[in-house]
Amino acid sequence: MTIFITGAAGFIGANLAKRVLTDEPGAHVVGLDNLNDYYDVRLKQARLAELEAFENFTFIRGDLADKRLISDLFARYRPQIVVNLAAQAGVRYSITNPDVYIESNIIGFYNILEACRQHPVEHLVYASSSSVYGSNSKVPYATEDKVDNPVSLYAATKKSNELLAHAYAKLYDIPCTGLRFFTVYGPAGRPDMAYFSFTNKLRAGETIQIFNYGNCKRDFTYIDDIVEGVLRVMRRPPERKTGTDGLPVPPYALYNIGNSQPENLLDFVRILSEELVRAGVLPEDYDFAAHQKLVPMQPGDVPVTYADTAPLERDFGFRPHTPLREGLRRFAQWYHDFYM
Ligand SMILES: NC(=O)c1ccc[n+]([C@@H]2O[C@H](COP(=O)([O-])OP(=O)(O)OC[C@H]3O[C@@H](n4cnc5c(N)ncnc54)[C@H](O)[C@@H]3O)[C@@H](O)[C@H]2O)c1
Repeated sequence: MTIFITGAAGFIGANLAKRVLTDEPGAHVVGLDNLNDYYDVRLKQARLAELEAFENFTFIRGDLADKRLISDLFARYRPQIVVNLAAQAGVRYSITNPDVYIESNIIGFYNILEACRQHPVEHLVYASSSSVYGSNSKVPYATEDKVDNPVSLYAATKKSNELLAHAYAKLYDIPCTGLRFFTVYGPAGRPDMAYFSFTNKLRAGETIQIFNYGNCKRDFTYIDDIVEGVLRVMRRPPERKTGTDGLPVPPYALYNIGNSQPENLLDFVRILSEELVRAGVLPEDYDFAAHQKLVPMQPGDVPVTYADTAPLERDFGFRPHTPLREGLRRFAQWYHDFYM
């Protein structure tokens, strides 16, 4: 079994690859990543170093937007399962750097779809995002909800991925599953995300900005829960069926993977602060009140994210469950060991 994981040096990709290599020694994992410098490349290299200790791991440094490369890799490795996690992430960065979102998230994903058409696979799993829900007011967010009003280019590219995947599933009978991840966090995570950037700032004695005056709620989802969800999903592609018109019914599915327990931003900051002190990242007498500022909402932001995970539970017998404090404790401990 060959599993092709794009974004393999990224936060979710590296954790998924490690789990597959550990649990399934017979599997060959081919990982692709362009190691871009959107955030500290040393983190990507550290994640890769762990993967390179496994014999069954092959790493290719390359770009998803390079159609020839992607096609050649599919021809050479003939993967049965493809997990597309490479993308330009981040909502705010898409306001200042739109080009890279079109290249990686639209052209890159199109290249994956084309490669799956030319070299049939058993299952294509790809990352979507809770950001497709935009500022929908109905919660929890369910995959049947209307998501036609993205509030950032990033969200628009993720919604486009879902549409493109559906068309390819229908036209070429490619089993595809899209996963809408909700704010993923954990050790060796992404420095552009709040829990990590707040930690860097507090440690440097800078002030953190809490958006929408703290009136935001996020469904924080621990990395191990995301990996468990992806693993279960990737092993079971949607069934290929023929409709009454004699044409294939698209083998296409879409799930939320989120903690289903939105946390208020101010509670999140309090728990993070307590865990940073506990892990020795910050001193016990740290003056948190002096280092935080409540500010208005930013363009592209949404006030709440909250996942309905009933379909995931129904079809795969699983829902994320790691409590925020436990996940932040593991992050704080990792941060201490990695940086201090
Ligand atoms: N972390 C989250 O909270 C979250 C939430 C929703 C969706 N997602 C999605 O999940 C996926 C993985 O996210 P992550 O948090 O691991 O992000 P990440 O940035 O850590 O990982 C993405 C990896 O893809 C690589 N990459 C980017 N563009 C590339 C390209 N054109 N060619 C090859 N490699 C490229 C990057 O170098 C990076 O290592 C992304 O698609 C992201 O949009 C993440």
